[in-house]
Amino acid sequence: MATPTIHQPSTTTATPYAGDREVVIRTENLWKIYQMGSEQVAALRGVNLQIYRNEYVAIMGPSGSGKSTLMNLIGCLDSPTRGEYWLSGHLVSALDDDELARIRNQEIGFVFQTFNLLPRTSALHNVELPLIYSGAPPAERTERAMAALQQVDLGSRVHHKPNELSGGQRQRVAIARALVNRPSIILADEPTGNLDSTTSNEIMALLEVLWERGNTIVLVTHEHDIAEHAHRVIHIRDGQVAGDTRTRRGDAVANRPPAPSA
Ligand SMILES: Nc1ncnc2c1ncn2[C@@H]1O[C@H](COP(=O)(O)OP(=O)(O)OP(=O)(O)O)[C@@H](O)[C@H]1O
Ligand SMILES: [Mg+2]
Repeated sequence: MATPTIHQPSTTTATPYAGDREVVIRTENLWKIYQMGSEQVAALRGVNLQIYRNEYVAIMGPSGSGKSTLMNLIGCLDSPTRGEYWLSGHLVSALDDDELARIRNQEIGFVFQTFNLLPRTSALHNVELPLIYSGAPPAERTERAMAALQQVDLGSRVHHKPNELSGGQRQRVAIARALVNRPSIILADEPTGNLDSTTSNEIMALLEVLWERGNTIVLVTHEHDIAEHAHRVIHIRDGQVAGDTRTRRGDAVANRPPAPSA
């Protein structure tokens, strides 16, 4: 699979390989301290992580342990207070807001618990938005947004507004929006948190397809049966990594014989 290019001014780069596996996400002693008036909240306290290309990782941990903070840093939505973050071998913790936005748009697709769709605009336009930011011409925008909506099986709902869609359909629009820039990494912060179990299963099946197609998936969840879809579970507690284990699915995938070559 082609390694996505990150267009950015020449910052430090490092060869992102550990053995023969490509490291796409690497954090070194990552800290995030929020200033609340005179009080400081240390949401992340020295997180060291490596996530490989095409891994499927779940992040679990108690409420307030720092999961969303970590996802926001990995997703280039925010910058760390201290420490380093390397994305596909590029040191991004040093980038300014504009550069962060550019990398985010190219590399990362974000899916949130509350969908974060624009309420008064169609599914199609919601999915087109990231393409507007990245400067794609209108005809191409529409074509790619349609294709992304078809990918999540919503080709017949493109003119519906969010309030004219079911919860699962809204989340699928959000996933189409996350996919439209063809990112290599999908970050999903409790994507099934607002969905019933049947709809959750649909969303998990969709993430599975994305993993099969080569995407790297990082998913935050409180639910063990959702985490079991992933291949590896990272436990966060008090802003630190408290555990890192392979799931049964992860064992099965690791022991899968290699695909026969054509
Ligand atoms: N913008 C902010 N300003 C100040 N403090 C914050 C901010 N965002 C998060 N925090 C604090 O940082 C800590 C970690 O929050 P975070 O949202 O990362 O937790 P979480 O693990 O995602 O929790 P949950 O499971 O409830 O979503 C919490 O103590 C929270 O109150
Ligand atoms: Mg959270």
